Amino acid sequence: MPQVHVTKRYRFCAAHRLHTDQLSTEENWTAFGKCNNANGHGHNYVVLVTVESGTAMGGCDLGRLDQVVRENIVERFDHFDLNCDPAFANLTTTGENLVKVIWDILEPILPSGGLHKVGVIETRDNYFEYAGVTSTRRGTE
Ligand code: NI
Repeated sequence: MPQVHVTKRYRFCAAHRLHTDQLSTEENWTAFGKCNNANGHGHNYVVLVTVESGTAMGGCDLGRLDQVVRENIVERFDHFDLNCDPAFANLTTTGENLVKVIWDILEPILPSGGLHKVGVIETRDNYFEYAGVTSTRRGTE
């Protein structure tokens, strides 16, 4: 069924370093280049959260969406080192993993079926997008 979606934009600034203990020093450098620099670096991340429009049919109230994203994403990551976040204890802090982590945090909190897609802009030219499995919870509102 055709459906209107709404996307809201959020921002946070965070540090990270692309590194995995699974690889040697040389292999990390080969895989990640300067993003493996031991001192880390930062990004002004933009998070695009797309939900079903309207509060019926599992859609999200946008005021509630703002609150959920602010409390669970922005406050959690803004001005932190992503490598120190428990979600990345066993994950490299790539944009691919970050966008999935954000989906996995938001999806269970938002109304069932309400979350449609999450996007993360990491740099001017890098955009990551993820639409994971939507749960079919009932009565969690
Ligand atoms: Ni980076």
